[in-house]
Amino acid sequence: MGRNTCLFCLSIHAIFALLHFVVSDAVKSPAAKSPSPSQYRLHQRYNGSQCSTRSRNDLKDGTCYAHSVEYEIQGNNIRPLRLVSDPWCSSGSFLGNGTLMQIGGHGRGSKRVRYFRPCGNHQCNWQQSTRSLSDSRWYASNQLLPQHDRVIVVGGRNAHSYEFVPKLHCQDKSFNLPFLHDTNDAHGGGNNLYPFLHLSSDGNLFIFANRDSILFNYRRNRVIKSFPRIPGGGSRNYPSSGSSVILPLDHSDKFQKVEVMVCGGAASGAYEAAEGGRFLRALNSCGRMVITGNIHKWSMENMPGPRTMHDMLILPTGHILIINGAKRGCAGWQNAASPSLEPYLYNPKKAVGERFTVLKATKIARMYHSSALLLPNGRVLVAGGNPNNKYTFSKVAYPTELRLQALVPDYMDRQFNHLRPRNLTVDYGGNSSGVAYGKQFTVHFMLGRRPGKDVEYSVYAPPFTTHSNSMNQRLLKLRCQRMRRDAGGLRSAVLEAPPSPNVAPPGYYLLTVVNAGIPSLSKWITLINA
Ligand SMILES: *[C@@H]1O[C@H](CO)[C@@H](O)[C@H](O)[C@H]1NC(C)=O
Ligand SMILES: *[C@@H]1O[C@H](CO)[C@@H](O)[C@H](O)[C@H]1NC(C)=O
Ligand SMILES: *[C@@H]1O[C@H](CO)[C@@H](O)[C@H](O)[C@H]1NC(C)=O
Ligand SMILES: *[C@@H]1O[C@H](CO)[C@@H](O)[C@H](O)[C@H]1NC(C)=O
Repeated sequence: MGRNTCLFCLSIHAIFALLHFVVSDAVKSPAAKSPSPSQYRLHQRYNGSQCSTRSRNDLKDGTCYAHSVEYEIQGNNIRPLRLVSDPWCSSGSFLGNGTLMQIGGHGRGSKRVRYFRPCGNHQCNWQQSTRSLSDSRWYASNQLLPQHDRVIVVGGRNAHSYEFVPKLHCQDKSFNLPFLHDTNDAHGGGNNLYPFLHLSSDGNLFIFANRDSILFNYRRNRVIKSFPRIPGGGSRNYPSSGSSVILPLDHSDKFQKVEVMVCGGAASGAYEAAEGGRFLRALNSCGRMVITGNIHKWSMENMPGPRTMHDMLILPTGHILIINGAKRGCAGWQNAASPSLEPYLYNPKKAVGERFTVLKATKIARMYHSSALLLPNGRVLVAGGNPNNKYTFSKVAYPTELRLQALVPDYMDRQFNHLRPRNLTVDYGGNSSGVAYGKQFTVHFMLGRRPGKDVEYSVYAPPFTTHSNSMNQRLLKLRCQRMRRDAGGLRSAVLEAPPSPNVAPPGYYLLTVVNAGIPSLSKWITLINA
């Protein structure tokens, strides 16, 4: 039975400059030998046998349908992809060369590692590693580490541990993490699943689960700090499903200040109540805490409304978009009601009380298994929503949602085009394929008017987004050493790459020039270890 988990991630094809999406759906549950039908019919199964539209068996046979697709943004085309194990409720990261690594999932897929490397000829597909994880990773989280192409995988259902992919030493297994035992709420469905992970600029890992958080030295397997518990009651992690970001990191303090923000979640007892058909009001509070330095205290503020199962995305302007989700209930089959149709925009720099703006409502409910992702064209792609225990397209309050939508932020409005930096090109100098840490590179762009002092340069790490968790998401505001004005409105800004992989792990980033709050279209750049 296909569960239709919406996983979103923007992948990169550097050579052909094609942009793709991967939306993976579930394949198998233990109860069913075969997945249920999606709405993407295949002419033949992946084992080569034909799928007939005249055979009633074939019409019902899930192997005659696609459960993962690649979406090409520019052409608005989708292409079916072959999945050989179940990625339902998995996690993922982009490696330094743009390959997507997807980890875990359900059943026989729970210990699997899959790779997807997009290609120009539309022939590429998921590749599954022959090596397996030490523990089952269902509802686990990922963080890409400063060490090239190494990922830490934390938690999962009945997995109070973490492990590295690839392993640090070949004899390594998983490492016990007592913090995940301590935060597990067995009656509430866990409430510590899909823990929030953020890499701090000191190289340590921030881990938030349920209501508690730690700073963790993963190299030494040691908890360095236990932070105060976030106020506001309830729980913040799956199935309570709040969301979290690190606020933009800034060159002005050498990226040393790292501030985490956690918003929404579900009330205590929401999971048990939902099982009985009662949907408790979600949490409306957000907490901000600086995790670097020595003083740690949650500063609390309220969103314009209660929210669970939302996504939090960092926009190129440094504002935080809060989108999708529900006002009541929590994650799980039919566990929520009152969809949150209005996105919120949060400006972290304004005074408390003035930070939230309520945006225009959508008409489409996107609760459990919905997703959202920032695109290089300044829009936010929104997809998914399925609170049913298989693809269900009719006769339920919230059918499996197949419509894609784009949220077009105000900053993309034509009236701001005179302010918008255009025609970005990136010049690394020489024939390098990326910029090394602490080194300079140049971005050329056009600007109609004389740029003010408020031109900013942001780089954004592409996240893997599922279950309200945008893994690896971070935005850095880079220092501009100097700007030159050439003929015809052309500008050349010499930028300084982040100082170290602790601040921004190696890989692809979206570079955006923002003039007076109006962003350019974004360009991919790569940060490389020299
Ligand atoms: C392919 O899969 C179908 C459905 O599971 C099965 O009936 C058929 O025998 C398979 N064919 C081959 C060639 O393996
Ligand atoms: C990308 O990097 C991964 C990990 O280092 C490697 O296994 C893979 O072969 C690379 N892919 C390509 C196409 O270079
Ligand atoms: C800038 O980009 C626009 C399209 O966005 C294109 O029409 C124009 O020719 C470009 N200008 C230069 C100088 O490359
Ligand atoms: C350019 O690339 C070639 C081949 O990889 C290399 O031999 C050469 O040193 C590079 N030049 C510069 C300026 O980096």
